[in-house]
Amino acid sequence: MSDSLSTFFSLSSCSSSPFFPLLALLVIFIFIFIIKRRQSKPKLNLPPGKMGWPFIGESIGYLRPYSATTVGEYMDQHIARYGKIFKSKLFGEPAIVSADAGLNKFILQNDGKLFQVSYPSSLGGILGKWSMLVLVGDMHRDMRAISLNFLSQARLKAHLLKDVEKHSLIVLNSWKHNSTFSAQDEAKRFTFNFMAKHILSLDPGNVETEHIKDMYANFMKGVVSVPLNLPGTAYRKALKSRNTILKFIEGKSNERVGKIEGGNGTWEEDDLLGWVLKNSKLSTEQILDLVLSLLFAGHETSSIAISLAIYFLPGCPQAIEQLREEHREIARAKKQVGNVELTWDDYKRMEFTHCVVNETLRLGNVVRYLHRKALKDIQYKGYDIPCGWKVLPVIAAPHLDPSLFDQPQQFNPWRWQNNGGRGNCSSSKGNSANTVSNNLFSPFGGGPRLCAGAELAKIEMAIFIHHLVLKYDWELASSDEPYVYPFVDFPKGLPITVKTHSYLS
Ligand code: HEM
Repeated sequence: MSDSLSTFFSLSSCSSSPFFPLLALLVIFIFIFIIKRRQSKPKLNLPPGKMGWPFIGESIGYLRPYSATTVGEYMDQHIARYGKIFKSKLFGEPAIVSADAGLNKFILQNDGKLFQVSYPSSLGGILGKWSMLVLVGDMHRDMRAISLNFLSQARLKAHLLKDVEKHSLIVLNSWKHNSTFSAQDEAKRFTFNFMAKHILSLDPGNVETEHIKDMYANFMKGVVSVPLNLPGTAYRKALKSRNTILKFIEGKSNERVGKIEGGNGTWEEDDLLGWVLKNSKLSTEQILDLVLSLLFAGHETSSIAISLAIYFLPGCPQAIEQLREEHREIARAKKQVGNVELTWDDYKRMEFTHCVVNETLRLGNVVRYLHRKALKDIQYKGYDIPCGWKVLPVIAAPHLDPSLFDQPQQFNPWRWQNNGGRGNCSSSKGNSANTVSNNLFSPFGGGPRLCAGAELAKIEMAIFIHHLVLKYDWELASSDEPYVYPFVDFPKGLPITVKTHSYLS
């Protein structure tokens, strides 16, 4: 025993063993190898920026809530220090952040070739692995084709527009004179009811519709929460609600298949579920994720956009006045020929309303930034974007950039008219919709993943505004403003007080 101990100590002793010089040589060799490798690699010209703390990087600063009509302190400071393209470490990964309209467009146009969608895995966990937002390649193409079919212009003209009006009137007609309520909840009621009807044929106010709406609200709290799957967390509750909703959708689809097979029914092609059951080869799991992601993409976004319009307009009474003129004109013309329902042609005639819609989307920025990753080593304007790095095109940034939009913090619908500055809220620059639409204005993203529901969202906003301005005056009941969490939300739900008016006579 004592022999072996002495052998051990003699081996560990530096002076008397050949082991140490060998080890030292090995360390020196590895050191030289690493330096040589570094020298032999071409030096990357990464954009300026800093990587922040280990692992979390700069995520805390990036995700700190801020007013939705600004780009936030983090972006402001980084753009001032490093320019519109900078590097950072976000969501646990090295990242290139772009507030540059040209690079944003380049990223979106090259989706699938140089860049690929890369949302945090927690979002995939909650929306489902077959959700369109996280899918890539052929599967994304197939799911997108189904969505575009469901939201095609022919369907918008023939079915959806009519129902948008019906559902907006159900909500607006329920408002009482001099009452105060959350405008954001009301906008959500409208867009949820509309989507639930067209996806699953659920009628507003039904017990099962209300149940699914409650489940969906829990689900949404999880989407915006810290993704911790622990007992009691919002994320865990959201996963549970997701399962309840999926079981419900599964029950509905089994019911329909059962009826058809038993010879007691026909395919209800009017809703999305009926259409996919009949026309696609999707598995049950894929159908469930598709339905849920369309409900998510189509309900939360347009309800926030409508809330933003309700928020911005009282600050610009001239815009409300001009909207009323436009919609009174349309309503009178319809009355003369004995028509009641709004048509596609009426929608197309809402020219100033389209300016209001654009301006709301520009200043409010419902979607702030998108998640991508580089599929190859890419060079852009002399900068290297290494393969595998996260890439975040901040689509809101050009919209709020004073070098691109005159007085960007001002709500100015007239900037979308060719003739430019008019009225108190006017701008002298008057960028026309034609000149800004392609490069600088991208509230719906772009390229192969351009929002499938962009036209529907604009129709929902325009038709809701049509009836809102003809029926009501409204004011904010207490101060509230939209914040980025990073989903845009009104902390107090946007409380408004309404007064009924008939602006038709
Ligand atoms: C103002 C309202 C809306 C805004 C601002 C908006 C914005 C966006 C954006 C920026 C994207 C691109 C995401 C990415 O590239 O990663 C997107 C995708 C999508 N949106 Fe919208 N959206 C709105 C309303 C709607 C509506 C009403 C629907 C209808 C159901 C819808 C369905 C979709 C779908 C299916 C996608 C995925 C497209 C794809 O991956 O190919 N959106 N939306």
